[in-house]
Amino acid sequence: MEMFVIEGGHSLKGEVAVSGSKNCSLPILTATLLCERPSRISNVPYLADTGFLLSLMESFGVSQKRDENNDVLIDARSITSTVASYEMVRKMRASVLVLAPLLARAGEAKVSLPGGCAIGSRPVDLHLMGLKKLGADLKVQDGYIHATLKNSSFIGADIELPLPSVGATEQIIMAAVLAKGVTNLFGAAKEPEVVDFCKALISAGAKITGHGTSHVVIDGVSSLGSMVYQVAPDRIEAGTLIAAAAATASTITIKNVCVDDMASVIHHFEKAGCLFKSSPELGENSELMVIAPKRLTATNMETAAHPGFPTDMQAQFMAAMTVAQGTSVIYERIFENRMMHVPELNRLGARIELHRGVATVVGQESLLAAPVMATDLRASASLIIAALAAQGQSEVRRIYHLDRGYEALDKKLTKLGASLTRCTQT
Ligand code: EPZ
Repeated sequence: MEMFVIEGGHSLKGEVAVSGSKNCSLPILTATLLCERPSRISNVPYLADTGFLLSLMESFGVSQKRDENNDVLIDARSITSTVASYEMVRKMRASVLVLAPLLARAGEAKVSLPGGCAIGSRPVDLHLMGLKKLGADLKVQDGYIHATLKNSSFIGADIELPLPSVGATEQIIMAAVLAKGVTNLFGAAKEPEVVDFCKALISAGAKITGHGTSHVVIDGVSSLGSMVYQVAPDRIEAGTLIAAAAATASTITIKNVCVDDMASVIHHFEKAGCLFKSSPELGENSELMVIAPKRLTATNMETAAHPGFPTDMQAQFMAAMTVAQGTSVIYERIFENRMMHVPELNRLGARIELHRGVATVVGQESLLAAPVMATDLRASASLIIAALAAQGQSEVRRIYHLDRGYEALDKKLTKLGASLTRCTQT
């Protein structure tokens, strides 16, 4: 098992480029299962999660490889298995998204329930509700979803989501793109990752409008051709780098930033005293300069569905607030247990009180180095940010959590001047 040894208390400087988005790549790679001609997906990051998903897809008889440009070439013309085992799904929850494409292509699927994870129970009831409305027969038995299609294809329907679930939105859209007739999805998630996912499907011939709003309309087509698409940059990685700069009084430049998608994150760090300069001003591929103050100002925050503050940035924002002037109150409104980083941050000298899922962060002049343990993907990023701000040498253990969702973040931070070494956990 590996850990990071971090010598904190120094500022960062220089420029760094953001990799392709994990939460765009996973649904987009899954959607290539719908395509009857080979697909080419570029800017897919090298992550444990994308690796797991591609090996799961190979178990369905799909061939995949990276070419000399690092593009992922996927050939899903023939699907020879429709079983996604617990062994695979438990490693990567988003694997549950294979349900709709396997049903749409093969008329049947047996997919393990993903089970909970560190941040919450994470049910998939809304995924199943949507698939049922579109004509799937679903039975949950022995921890598996046993699914068949009543007809030869899904049948378009009107579906209302009671909450804007990102995964359920993506699952339902994948079922609807090859359905007979039109599907109206109300209450859809508006996250940028959903928009990117829909653009990728449209590149393969899907007929989708309204993506990015809460009413998505999908007009089913008989088949999809090749999906040729470049995955958007990872806005959560960009936000994580902003938080690292903010917590260490740094000035850095981040490349490949989609500023339009980061309004809430930028707004909160501006309220905390950071200055931002982006060129071009807005757009899909800007350079964003972050100029952090000597000391941040405490700022309250509550997570929300897009365009609110993303839950995937909550832990990183909290890490920055631990060294701010004043007291910040942070609410996690999306997941019921996404505060596992709090006790570990307190080990680094932070003063955070948790009460009924609300964190009160009393900012400290500085943090003090300590050995800490990552508990989940974004918690590991949060602990790295805090260790960078702490005086002395810290250890961040169980760094495999980080490798699931960040491509070479250690190398990127080292390039910015961080004293950070990856080594075997003592
Ligand atoms: C996606 O997870 C992301 N993962 C998560 O990122 C992200 O935190 C989340 O969306 C919210 O933005 C990927 O895209 C691979 P949800 P997902 O369905 O789709 C409840 C990261 O750190 N819910 O929008 O699983 C659920 O319990 C990860 O990169 C139901 O009740 O999230 C949660 O409270 C973590 N029933 C809320 O909805 C359902 O059927 C939002 O979950 C589905 C969800």
